Amino acid sequence: METIAVLGAGIMGAGIARVFGRAGLDVRVFDVRAEAAATAAESAGGSAHSSVAAAVDGATIVLEAAPERLELKRDLIAVVEAANAEALIASNTSSIAADALAAGMREPERLVIAHFFNPADTVPLVEVVPGPATPRASVDRMVALLEACGKTAVPLAQQVEGFIANRLQAALYREAMHLVELGVATPEQVDLAVTAGLGPRWALAGPFEVMDLGGLDVWTSVADHLFPTLGDASAAPAMLRERAERGDLGAKTGAGFLPREADASARFAARLRALLAARSR
Ligand SMILES: NC(=O)c1ccc[n+]([C@@H]2O[C@H](COP(=O)([O-])OP(=O)(O)OC[C@H]3O[C@@H](n4cnc5c(N)ncnc54)[C@H](O)[C@@H]3O)[C@@H](O)[C@H]2O)c1
Repeated sequence: METIAVLGAGIMGAGIARVFGRAGLDVRVFDVRAEAAATAAESAGGSAHSSVAAAVDGATIVLEAAPERLELKRDLIAVVEAANAEALIASNTSSIAADALAAGMREPERLVIAHFFNPADTVPLVEVVPGPATPRASVDRMVALLEACGKTAVPLAQQVEGFIANRLQAALYREAMHLVELGVATPEQVDLAVTAGLGPRWALAGPFEVMDLGGLDVWTSVADHLFPTLGDASAAPAMLRERAERGDLGAKTGAGFLPREADASARFAARLRALLAARSR
């Protein structure tokens, strides 16, 4: 049975620790903020540690969920390598390339990316991505562990910016903002087209299954007609950048694209849990 050390107990690390704890695994948690480590360890049924070395001692898998800064992650991984010569080192990075992380390592073959989605203990998907030197067996081991913990693991053959899900999401968001900037629809109307149309369908069938169900002759015509008309922005559109620059950051500041309640993030997580529970029945 694997022994897991989770390094970084913020939004993602705390949820990741719960995934492993609920599966009955021995979970150790370290965070530079001792109270964050203690809270996450308690909710995972694990133990909090006061140093990286203590947390990873005897661990077979180390999962780092520290802030998304290359130098910080490299330094942290160097401490792990010095303290534990065996464990597979998994990073929850969203955007740092595996080869950039591996470049600073003594043994780059120990690195794998395990990309969870927020809230980590609720959304089933975890993308598992090899670094340039990661053996296939390590990807398979990570996939097996995640599936034993009830997650849906999708291994990629090689690294790519944004992995699968964030690339798909970015393509949709680019078009969503393009439609609003054209004046075709409001943000509320675009969201409704997703939540009342595409979203329910996507909970059951991904794009390739939807194309198969619709007919590939139809989708060839759709692609020929629509692709030339789609937005092709190569940087953040003005409607996004301007809000961010004036501090309208969405749920965390109370103003974004849509009016929202103060507890929007917590309410969203609760509704998502209810939806996934209904889907698995
Ligand atoms: N938030 C998301 O939606 C999301 C989704 C997928 C992946 N990620 C990735 O997960 C990682 C963590 O993101 P987050 O949103 O949980 O950030 P966060 O800021 O909520 O948590 C980071 C935690 O790391 C701690 N920390 C800082 N320096 C540390 C160190 N040297 N050693 C150990 N802990 C340290 C912080 O105290 C904090 O508790 C990032 O790589 C991020 O890109 C985030």
